Amino acid sequence: MSWPRLRSVGRKNTTTSTATGPLEMTALRDNWEELARSIPMRSILWRQRPWEAEEFFATGREQVDRSMTTLSDLGIRPAGRALDFGCGIGRLTQALANQFDEVVGVDVAAPMIEQAKNYNRFGERCRYLVNATDDLRQFENASFDFVFSLIVLQHVGTPLAMRYISEFVRVLRPGGVAMFQAPSEIVSTLPLAPSAIRAELELIEPPLEGLENLPSASIVSLQIRVRNASSLPWLPEHRIIVAGKWRDRDGRTVVDPEQGPRTPLTLGIDAAASADIAAEVSLPSEPGPHVLEFDLHQVGHGWFAEQGSRPLAIPISVIGGVAPENTRAPGPEQPDRAVAATPPPIEMHAVPRAEVLRILQAGGAEPVAVLDDTSAGYEWVSFTYVAQKRSSGLRRWLRGAAGQRRMNS
Ligand SMILES: C[S@@+](CC[C@H](N)C(=O)[O-])C[C@H]1O[C@@H](n2cnc3c(N)ncnc32)[C@H](O)[C@@H]1O
Repeated sequence: MSWPRLRSVGRKNTTTSTATGPLEMTALRDNWEELARSIPMRSILWRQRPWEAEEFFATGREQVDRSMTTLSDLGIRPAGRALDFGCGIGRLTQALANQFDEVVGVDVAAPMIEQAKNYNRFGERCRYLVNATDDLRQFENASFDFVFSLIVLQHVGTPLAMRYISEFVRVLRPGGVAMFQAPSEIVSTLPLAPSAIRAELELIEPPLEGLENLPSASIVSLQIRVRNASSLPWLPEHRIIVAGKWRDRDGRTVVDPEQGPRTPLTLGIDAAASADIAAEVSLPSEPGPHVLEFDLHQVGHGWFAEQGSRPLAIPISVIGGVAPENTRAPGPEQPDRAVAATPPPIEMHAVPRAEVLRILQAGGAEPVAVLDDTSAGYEWVSFTYVAQKRSSGLRRWLRGAAGQRRMNS
């Protein structure tokens, strides 16, 4: 699977200042309910091709295995009752049910929960509940041994994410462990020197005749050769993305540029060297002659074409009628075959690492590890946090130590 990521579209908010109101909560819920009805699997793990249920759930098992290995390396072997916050259709929850006596998955979107119930293979040991409040008030204090949440807090907005983190700690039993992921900030990259902003792009496969009269909303695979036409290397830390923009034949952009194909140059390219990249492209649903224009984009800085580099224009003609394999059949048991060919508009937000650590400490949890994480995509610095709720003995000791320090000062 190539670089699964959720596309960040719209506002990228890294501030912590705005308050969350009921309206924001409603908008969040409505958006996810809509996504759950149209492209449940691809809204959770974006890729151009639809998922089959089996391969989708296999990614959950692989992820949970990796997470459990990470915990075991830290000397932590969680057991008992687990909470999966923002469970979606149960990709991770089902895998957690293999490891824990009891698992509860919660999600803001009722249609996600309905589908999760349909995919449940563990009966009463695995339960799914809607949680549409800005907290976890439906759960008692100290009622879980483990709280897990991946690729959720990044979508809820900073103030809400902060509130949920403190709720994770509240619902943990003393000694219990929280493991959750959250982006901390947008990556900052050094700008490329102007003389390094020179690329040559070439379509290798398929031949141009293969791009005529394709059904709308179908998917084609392109192979593109990218040459660094400068005398300076492009390094991985420059964070360069090969991105396609859909234009009509008059050069007007017809699809949001954030929603075209994007492939990061994760290995960089040496001066005067080339690399071939594979791009899976969802064709527009509008029939007609289109142009897919590929250019390079440096995260945080801009498009190469703006600095005089020549983009690659690929003419692609689209005819009406949705490709049969891209048609969604109704019902939660069906594979994720959506008519929509563009990624869903899902916002991305960050909680600065220092804030996360402060909330954990204030709630009575000790951060055990802060691990680099790539699941928020190429444009974000993101972490997986592991924190353990202090046991009352430790809490008493810490209170005593704090009291001692106060007395000594
Ligand atoms: C990208 S999906 C991840 C699903 C699941 N964690 C996984 O990795 O398979 C994000 C999920 O978070 C849910 N979500 C968004 N905001 C939420 C909130 N405030 N409370 C609970 N769930 C929320 C969405 O409905 C969606 O199912």
